[in-house]
Amino acid sequence: MKTKLFRKKSVNQLLQKHGKVQLKKTLVAFDLILLGVGAIVGTGIFILPGTVAAQYAGPGIVFSFIIAAFVCAFAAMCYSEFSSSVPVTGSAYTYSYIVFGEIIAWLVGWSLLLEYGLAVAAVATGWSSYFSSLLSGFNILLPHEVSGAFNPDNGTYINLPAVLIIFLIAGLLTLGIKESTKFNTIMVCVKVAVILLFIVVGAFYVEPTNWQPFTPFGTSGVLNAAALVFFAYLGFDAVSSAAEEVKNPQRNMPIGIIGSLFICTLLYVALSLVLTGMVSYTKLNVSDPVSFAMQMVHQDWVAGIISIGAVVGMMTVILVMLYGGTRLVYSFGRDGLLPKVLCEVHPKRKTPVKNTWIFAILVALCAGFVPLDKLTELVNMGTLLAFTVVSIGVIYLRKNKDIPNEGFKVPFFPVIPILSFVLCIFLMTQLSAHTWIACSIWMIIGIIIYFAYGKKHSVLNK
Ligand code: ALA
Repeated sequence: MKTKLFRKKSVNQLLQKHGKVQLKKTLVAFDLILLGVGAIVGTGIFILPGTVAAQYAGPGIVFSFIIAAFVCAFAAMCYSEFSSSVPVTGSAYTYSYIVFGEIIAWLVGWSLLLEYGLAVAAVATGWSSYFSSLLSGFNILLPHEVSGAFNPDNGTYINLPAVLIIFLIAGLLTLGIKESTKFNTIMVCVKVAVILLFIVVGAFYVEPTNWQPFTPFGTSGVLNAAALVFFAYLGFDAVSSAAEEVKNPQRNMPIGIIGSLFICTLLYVALSLVLTGMVSYTKLNVSDPVSFAMQMVHQDWVAGIISIGAVVGMMTVILVMLYGGTRLVYSFGRDGLLPKVLCEVHPKRKTPVKNTWIFAILVALCAGFVPLDKLTELVNMGTLLAFTVVSIGVIYLRKNKDIPNEGFKVPFFPVIPILSFVLCIFLMTQLSAHTWIACSIWMIIGIIIYFAYGKKHSVLNK
């Protein structure tokens, strides 16, 4: 019984190609950095620096961003070592399959599904409100009934823009990975340009007195804020799901993952510094702090451009998270833990078309009908859970002599993996009790599915 639950995959088994179910190798390091920045920069940077600074950290939010970046960087190094020695799709899920065995892998994958699924739904919901306010700027008003989650008391029944944007991006993903990354490249350039525009224009309006006091809520405020702004960095792990579609993954995966994280940290720190320097943090508790600050200094045209950038920025987050989710489900199907239909690849387009639509429909249902504000913490929980397993997994990976290990190595081993593990657990303890309960319920459902289906159908049975 025990051996069956903890049966592992060998790397050779994983790297063995099965002819028809092979994805196409087209991506290089630069594509990965763009994919990473596309996944990372989104709702977080356009909303959190204002609301979190106002309530938790003041200008000290800069430190919160740096702390969260360190936690992510440590985890990113562990991810890089894994994805360069085991360049297969499925991210933390596949890594756990090799070092910890099937049941742990399934549970990690199951929590990643929570991360990707809810992140897509949450960002689509945020996108919908930015998009609606942009439309209202052109005097186009959406009917109230279709502009919010199911809430008859409030007169809203479905968040139609959120559903439509998910379907639009799912359609794009089915066209092929190279086509999707082309679209991604354009969008990433737009949003980075918008952020740079804010930093450059805003710098002229900084009043250093706004930075005093720098940490009005003390160290605990900065730490609480770090747990919240962690959300702004999510997405870099989705890059590792692309491993099977990357040329020379030993070199390109680490550059892609760590490079995109580094660029985002620079952007976040610079933007928060300028933002809290332009306007007193006490005034920043608004839903669009970045364009709000520009309005405060009467740069309305910059504010308008920033709103457009936010809409575009969130679209790329949806793209990469949706991509990560579908590739994860693809691995579940390939491993027999979920039905095989999920790993069918379209003969011409070389993408898992059916699985993309099934995943997109489920996520769109969440985005369309469920108000997601309380559930977003769950996204952080699912991610942190996966990070802890990957961090500790690297230690086992090094011990395993069967795995080729010529690629990237985590420096200061084993200090960094252990630090990464401890810091992730610490951030998890900062999340609320209802998040812990909701996460436990999700995990119980996962365990039931495993025993009812996965264990019997796993390809490792053969
Ligand atoms: N990092 C992503 C964002 O901020 C989830 O939107």
